[in-house]
Amino acid sequence: MKPIAIIYGSSGGNTQDVATRIAKRLAGTEVILIDVSKANVTDFEIYSNLILGTSTWGVGDLQDDWDGFLPKLKNINLAGKTIALFGLGDSSSYSDSFVDGMGILYETIKGKGCKIIGYISAEGYTHDSSRAEEAGMFVGLALDEDNEYDKTDNRVIDWLSDISSKFQ
Ligand SMILES: Cc1cc2nc3c(=O)[nH]c(=O)nc-3n(C[C@H](O)[C@H](O)[C@H](O)COP(=O)(O)O)c2cc1C
Repeated sequence: MKPIAIIYGSSGGNTQDVATRIAKRLAGTEVILIDVSKANVTDFEIYSNLILGTSTWGVGDLQDDWDGFLPKLKNINLAGKTIALFGLGDSSSYSDSFVDGMGILYETIKGKGCKIIGYISAEGYTHDSSRAEEAGMFVGLALDEDNEYDKTDNRVIDWLSDISSKFQ
């Protein structure tokens, strides 16, 4: 399998921590961890397999560093790439905008010729509404380190067992 680049944006460290845990669970695959605050367009161009992770801030806003990178992301040629998304949020305090940032990333990359993998069922989550949800499915792995940190490891394991074989 070709390497996988995990590109994440994290304001308080939670998304970075989960990105590191995902990388560890991908043992046997070459994984490159990149903080989007230090990323450049080439990082996106050279890797065929990408995992993009973001948290949500404000009310439904994309994490700051991702927000700053968004104009560049819009112009990157993603044709032929395989991309999975994960998002961190707070399904209790921000129940109406849970992991919206992941939804913003999804809206930015969809229709750009990449294959998006790793949708999961929204069953078992307690939020009211999410920009990252379509017809009962999240567009990537939704995680809540504020209230459901005890579920994160199993959610990551289940998600990786679904997506690992789908990378190039
Ligand atoms: C001021 C503030 C605003 C937030 N807004 C949202 C939100 O709109 N939706 C959501 O799901 N989570 C929201 N969160 C929760 C964060 O996304 C969550 O704590 C996440 O784990 C932070 O990850 P990070 O440390 O990688 O940035 C907010 C948290 C704070 C402190």
